[in-house]
Amino acid sequence: MKHTIRALLVLSISLTGLSGESLPNTTQTLNAKIELGRRLFYDADLSINGTMSCATCHEQRRAFTDGNSAHPGALGDFGKRNVPGLANVGLHKNLTWGHNHLSGLAEQALAPIRGTDPIEMGMNGYENEITKRLSQNGCYQKLFSLAFHEQKGAINLSTVTQALESFEKTLISNNSLYDQKMRAKKPLPTKEAREGKKLFFGAAKCNTCHSAPLFSDDDFHQIQSKNQTQNPQFKDYGLSDVTGDIKDKNVFRTPSLRNAALTSPYWHDGSAKTLDDAIRKHDLKINQSMNAKDIQKIIAFINTLTDNDFVTNPNFSKPKVECPY
Ligand code: HEC
Ligand code: HEC
Repeated sequence: MKHTIRALLVLSISLTGLSGESLPNTTQTLNAKIELGRRLFYDADLSINGTMSCATCHEQRRAFTDGNSAHPGALGDFGKRNVPGLANVGLHKNLTWGHNHLSGLAEQALAPIRGTDPIEMGMNGYENEITKRLSQNGCYQKLFSLAFHEQKGAINLSTVTQALESFEKTLISNNSLYDQKMRAKKPLPTKEAREGKKLFFGAAKCNTCHSAPLFSDDDFHQIQSKNQTQNPQFKDYGLSDVTGDIKDKNVFRTPSLRNAALTSPYWHDGSAKTLDDAIRKHDLKINQSMNAKDIQKIIAFINTLTDNDFVTNPNFSKPKVECPY
């Protein structure tokens, strides 16, 4: 619904701004933006020394995580946080582990490109270098002019991050076994997963925070005790580092559990190696009082949230070198 409204809005804006004789081809513009965003996502030219693309840390086969507790930056800085997956990221209103006022995916993309805490792609102060590098590529010239004809095909950080956003919005994961069975109104195939589902939505109350269908309420919670050890490399207090408010200390956004079987290690600092560790680590009575069998059942349920189509979809993979336009 929200998307239909947005599409209508986009259409009416482009109609009112019209002076020429033909309507702009909005489908072609959007497709060019998505293709452009995908190419940029896989392009190491967005990093200072050409060693790191978005996909270095966000690998499709791992549901766009990387398998490490944290990933070092292009210049060797220690990573501060665990790499979150990108499934359905366009549907989240709060982005990252602990931020409540990022305006959207385009703004978020500035953090890896030119952030300094920690340095990831290392382009702070080198924004013009991005324009210079990408402008040398004929395919990019074509794609930017198709995608951003109102900006006359300008190649800059603003159009780069808008294109990345368009691609990221296509990263929809909705074809796990759980989704298939829910759509068909059929039960999950194994008894263990069925019992796990019942616990997840019932006695164990997981869904109060990991709420379906995103398996995240997109909200912030303090689920670690105050005296739990911090990552010694960094003091990371979550949301309070952004708001400065003491009551936000150690408060983090609920991560989605979609594809969680593929996204180990877990937690904002990657300190939980397995799903079992990740569940027990919640400083909530209910999580800690569950017996091993119950946890196994819940994990069997979480495993039904793995979407093989999502992690093999060719539209999300590294594009071929040949220019599609
Ligand atoms: C060095 C590794 C690294 C690189 C390179 C990287 N990311 Fe990330 N990404 C992370 C980490 C770590 C986080 C979590 C940041 C936080 O919570 O503060 C993150 C978070 C995100 C999020 C928020 C996800 C969510 O669930 O809210 C998005 C979207 C994202 N990255 C997209 C990108 C894009 C686009 C690029 C390329 C321009 C990129 N990333 C490059 C490590 C990386
Ligand atoms: C009060 C809200 C809340 C409840 C209830 C809750 N969780 Fe969480 N969960 C979180 C938050 C917040 C995190 C992130 C913690 C961090 O990294 O600091 C998390 C992290 C996780 C992770 C790690 C995911 C990842 O990608 O790192 C798993 C797995 C998980 N929870 C499963 C469960 C299960 C299973 C239950 C029910 C037994 C449950 N949670 C109940 C809020 C909650």
